[in-house]
Amino acid sequence: MSQPQPQRDLNRMADAFDATYAQIKWGSHDGQKSGPGSTIEATRECVRFLDSVIRERDVRSILDVSCGNMRWQKLLIDMHPNVKFIGLDVSKTVIEENRRNFPGLKFECVNSASAVSGRLPKADLVICRHTMMHLALEDAVNMLRNVTDSASKCVCVTTHDNVRDNFHGQDSRVPIVKDVEGAYKWKALNMRLAPFEDIVRNRSFAEFGSCKDANKHHNERFVLYTRCA
Ligand SMILES: C[S@@+](CC[C@H](N)C(=O)[O-])C[C@H]1O[C@@H](n2cnc3c(N)ncnc32)[C@H](O)[C@@H]1O
Repeated sequence: MSQPQPQRDLNRMADAFDATYAQIKWGSHDGQKSGPGSTIEATRECVRFLDSVIRERDVRSILDVSCGNMRWQKLLIDMHPNVKFIGLDVSKTVIEENRRNFPGLKFECVNSASAVSGRLPKADLVICRHTMMHLALEDAVNMLRNVTDSASKCVCVTTHDNVRDNFHGQDSRVPIVKDVEGAYKWKALNMRLAPFEDIVRNRSFAEFGSCKDANKHHNERFVLYTRCA
């Protein structure tokens, strides 16, 4: 287990993403502020892919550890009304908005990269899309640990095959909101390389399939890991 993070760092990350939403740093698209990669158009392939994962792997519960504005997840929930869904996000603003917009669904304000808060809720399928690339590398590592610890059947995360070294350039973090540390400008990450590959393998998950995701310049994929028997 990694060392627990000091509480002030966790608060700082929440503040940083709250400020990102408050200042509309990712822009306003399709009536949502989680970024251009979260629109209906940008997520069409991912929704189609997850729909098939849910049916083929008999998924009964989904945990999205960084749900954002829920623009595309709502489509999936409507397609599978009997699947239990829990949405987490570190931003209190976005969680409060989701509670107002989707009163029938469950949302919690949680830092899913926290090494302090212990286990996240368990679910058949755990989703973490377009998130780790905005975190410091050590937080991204904690997030992948928590995600894989919580998934009983499968995990879907974002990966970039064209990255040759995840450590390269990690010391030059640029905050999304000036002078607010904890949320950083986008950096591509490859889940097939260190420090991520061991986390997946040590928890007995293996890559099973994927779909293309929104960022074409970085060979972005939404990859499915399933638990080996
Ligand atoms: C670029 S948005 C993507 C939202 C959503 N996953 C999607 O694909 O549309 C990233 C989201 O991750 C959330 N986030 C970042 N770090 C987090 C953390 N440690 N725990 C929970 N949510 C986090 C942010 O607040 C933001 O809503």
